[in-house]
Amino acid sequence: MTVHIGAEKGDIAPTVLMPGDPYRAKWAAETFLNDARCINEVRGMLGFTGTWNGHPVTIQGSGMGMPSLSIYANELIKDYNAQTLIRIGSCGGMQEHVKIRDVILAMTASTLSTPSRGIFKELNFAPCADYGLLAAAHKAAADKNVPTHVGGIYSSDVFYDERPDLNEQMVRHGILGVEMEAAELYNLAARHKRRALAVLTVSDHLLTHEALPAEDREKTFGDMVEIALQAAFA
Ligand code: HPA
Repeated sequence: MTVHIGAEKGDIAPTVLMPGDPYRAKWAAETFLNDARCINEVRGMLGFTGTWNGHPVTIQGSGMGMPSLSIYANELIKDYNAQTLIRIGSCGGMQEHVKIRDVILAMTASTLSTPSRGIFKELNFAPCADYGLLAAAHKAAADKNVPTHVGGIYSSDVFYDERPDLNEQMVRHGILGVEMEAAELYNLAARHKRRALAVLTVSDHLLTHEALPAEDREKTFGDMVEIALQAAFA
């Protein structure tokens, strides 16, 4: 057990999928894993471990934002020795050619700040995905015919953004989408020599102001889980 995860050491698999929403973790585990059992309920941040195609997999909620994800990813890496961490989440589209429901594979994640700021200080470290995972996810998405974009995303600290000028610069520099967790996941993976990737579904759009209808969320979320699982064990 750690401060925030109630699981015993052997209860967490080397491969961990991390949705922001703990109920998504429950749904994904029940839908895609065999013999899934709940391994964490501390603070309602549900985690489940089961198998996929015979491989042990944990699906653990991260909560929203980098401070929350950082707590869970730190404990998964340092205390449970997680080796592969894949964020599965939603993002806001930031380019015209990126449509609602499309998948984004985050090659890099720009930020204003992360919980790792204290280490980097004036350095602008470039958080990036594991290339092997990225390439495998790209192939899995192509095999499933899911419209997919590979490129930079923006990990923001705020959902209700009072700095439209920053978003404008992100759009101008080709950033595909905005979410709130990936950059810190990539920082931690780099620091501890683990593999990380963020697989994201475009759930809303900053330019068109469209949003994914609630009834469509499950199907598109399912594609994302399958892409992440196939990438992890490619
Ligand atoms: N902003 C930040 N995070 C998000 C968004 C957004 O528009 N959509 C999904 N996650």
